Amino acid sequence: MNDPAEFVRSIIDQLRAEVPGDAVIAASGGIDSTTAAVLTERALGSRAHAIFVDTGLLRAGEVDRVGEFFRASRLSFAIARAEDRFLGALRGVRDPEEKRRRVGAAFIRLFEEEATKFGTDRLVQGTIAPDWIESGGALRDTIKTHHNVGGVPSDSRLILVEPLRDLYKDEVRAVARHLGIPEPDRQPFPGPGLAVRVNGEVTPDRVRRARVANAIVETEIERAVAAGEIPRPWQYFAVLLDAPTVGVLGDNRVHGDAVSVRVVESIDAMTAKAVALPSPVLQHISERITRELSGQVVRVLYDVTDKPPGTIEWE
Ligand code: XMP
Repeated sequence: MNDPAEFVRSIIDQLRAEVPGDAVIAASGGIDSTTAAVLTERALGSRAHAIFVDTGLLRAGEVDRVGEFFRASRLSFAIARAEDRFLGALRGVRDPEEKRRRVGAAFIRLFEEEATKFGTDRLVQGTIAPDWIESGGALRDTIKTHHNVGGVPSDSRLILVEPLRDLYKDEVRAVARHLGIPEPDRQPFPGPGLAVRVNGEVTPDRVRRARVANAIVETEIERAVAAGEIPRPWQYFAVLLDAPTVGVLGDNRVHGDAVSVRVVESIDAMTAKAVALPSPVLQHISERITRELSGQVVRVLYDVTDKPPGTIEWE
């Protein structure tokens, strides 16, 4: 893509040709799906219906934040509450690929129901190029199945519409900026949400721990950015490890969890560099996590691995 304005013009024509009636949009609140949603509204007007799914795997405050944006926009918007459905689908699952498949399947079933309400079979997704390239769409082995690609069951009646599928993240951000979408540089958040930031089994209690740790990392990094201590990193989060460990609480030894903090620089998510955070920032993150999850998380690690050889997420 060379020129965002030209891209917007041509994709609007393409969406009008591809979608004869109504369409539902999988709106996650991320920059990809938000850009796809705004483009679809430009193309289809009131025939475009954005649906935001509360999977129970979202970050702290996310439902309110996303709701605020969409309610202020021209898009028809609804929140589907489906925490029990998603957490139920993940019960007992430890394998990351299986988590993505289960989350993907639960999304598709839910959007089939939503599409029926609007008498359509078109589902707009914010899939971008790395999603399908890393899902084995190109000449590579599957690195991981991004939930919005590999998770679509073959018996689904939905027809996917993916206006951003040829773009990379930096190009999507340029389009978002051109469309006036706020925070085009917001950090990415994976579609399967905290399910892939809870290594091992996903239980409501482990999701809660991951959510608290993620919120602390976000707040502390954003505080350090605002104070001019570090430039804004590309992505920053915490992962609850599947590595029970021993800590000390008062006079007792306790068994708790370990959390890994990950802060990376990237341009398009295909490669990434671990950021060398100043020690006081790291120390403060560690102190807050172990204090606010006292007796639950007793060890905090910092991940210094680049991509490659690691990936950005742990799973
Ligand atoms: P990895 O871990 O593959 O992540 O280096 C690259 C970027 O993609 C995000 N990510 C996902 N996004 N569905 C998504 O929508 C997924 O299943 C998924 N897995 C990873 C990750 O946060 C990073 O920005």
